[in-house]
Amino acid sequence: MSYNVNVELGDRSYPIHIGSDMQSEIGSIIAAEGLSGVCLVIADEHTGEIYGDKVVASLRAANFSPSLVMIPAGESSKSSNQLVDLYSAALTAGLDRQGFIVALGGGVVGDLAGYAAASFLRGIPFVQIPTSLLAMVDSSVGGKTGINLAEGKNLVGAFHQPSLVFIDLKTLSTLPQREFLAGMAEVVKYGIIRDRVFFDHIEAKVEELHPTGNRAILSDLVRRCCEIKAEVVAADEREGSLRAILNFGHTLGHAIENKAGYGGIYIHGEAISVGMVYAARLSVAVCGMSSKEADRIEALLVKLGLPVRAMGLNWIALREAMSVDKKAFGGAPQFVLASSIGTVSTGHSLPEELLEATWASMS
Ligand code: NAD
Ligand code: GLY
Repeated sequence: MSYNVNVELGDRSYPIHIGSDMQSEIGSIIAAEGLSGVCLVIADEHTGEIYGDKVVASLRAANFSPSLVMIPAGESSKSSNQLVDLYSAALTAGLDRQGFIVALGGGVVGDLAGYAAASFLRGIPFVQIPTSLLAMVDSSVGGKTGINLAEGKNLVGAFHQPSLVFIDLKTLSTLPQREFLAGMAEVVKYGIIRDRVFFDHIEAKVEELHPTGNRAILSDLVRRCCEIKAEVVAADEREGSLRAILNFGHTLGHAIENKAGYGGIYIHGEAISVGMVYAARLSVAVCGMSSKEADRIEALLVKLGLPVRAMGLNWIALREAMSVDKKAFGGAPQFVLASSIGTVSTGHSLPEELLEATWASMS
C-alpha cells in the first residue's frame, strides 16, 4: 500500500511518496519526476552501509549515473568543513547543473545534503529519502536546509525545496529505538499544534508505537504528519507567520541541544520533548491552557519513553543560548504557546521571571 501527499507550491510543488519496501523503485520514481543524469547520493555511515547499494543499484537501473558518498553519522556533520568536503565529492562525481543530489538518511544528512544542493553551482535539484522517523515526519518536507555554527544550530542555511520526498517505512526497522522515540516527539508536536483528534489517536495507540510495530498504524501516523507539514508549508513557505507553529517546544529545545553539546546527552527529538513540556507550562501560565492538558502532554511523552526534564544544565547558559536562536527578536526569545491541545499561537515574548521560574519548576 502506498500513497502520495503533495506539497503545493506552484511550479515548485512536489510529491511525498509514502510506502513500504519500495527502495528498488526509487530510480524509476525519480525518473518519472523528470530528473536525469549524474547524481550524488549522500548518506551517513549507517544509512549508507545499510541502504546505499540498493539505492545506487535502483538509480543505475533507471539510467542515472550515481556515486555514493558517506559522511560520519551525527549532528557534528552539519558543519562547514563537511559541506566543503561534499562540494569536492560533487566535483569528483562530475555533478553538473543537469544533475542532482540524493539525501539518504536522517535529518542531519537531509539538512546538510539539502544545503549542498542549494548552494552547489548556485543551486541544483535534490531528492529526500528520509530514513529516520524524525526526517520522515518533519525535516525532509518543507525545504529548510542548513548547517550549524559553534554559536548555534542551523544558523547558516537556505530554503530549497526537494523535487521529491520518498518515504520507505521499511527503513524504520533498522532505526535504533532511541532515534525512533526522538521522532515520536515531533509526531506528538503535530497533535499539539494542529490536530487534537490526532493527539488522542497517538495516546490511544501508544503501546503499539515502535520501529517494527504495526506498519498500518505507523503509516497513518507518518501520513498525517506529512499532511499537516505540507499544509503549513504551502500556506507559509518562508516562515512569515503560520510556519512558526512548527517550532513548538523548539525555543528551549534548541538551547538544550546547544548547551548539552549537539548529539550528546540529548538528541534533537529528546531536547524537543523537554522543550514541549516547558512550552506547555508556559502555556498554562499565560495562554489559558488547563493544567490537565499540560499534564496530558507530559504523560504522553513519559509513556513514550521520552525525557521530560533536562538535568544538570545551567539556566543562565540556556537563557543565553535562547538569545542567539535565529528566531529571537533583539535577544528576546519567541515562544509558540498553546491555548489547548490542537490550537497554538506564535510570537510570545515573556517576562524573564516567568521563564526562569518555569525552568526552576522543572528542575
Ligand atoms: P540523524 O540524521 O543524526 O539520524 C539519527 C541516527 O539514526 C544517525 O546515527 C543515523 O545514522 C541513524 N539512522 C537514520 N536512519 C536510520 C535507519 N533507517 N537505520 C539505521 N540507522 C539510521 O538525526 P535525525 O533525528 O534524523 O535528524 C536530526 C536533525 O534534523 C537535526 O540536525 C535537526 O536540526 C534537523 N531537523 C531539521 C528540520 C528541517 O525542517 N530541516 C526539522 C527538524 C529537524
Ligand atoms: N521544523 C520546522 C520547520 O520545518 O519549519
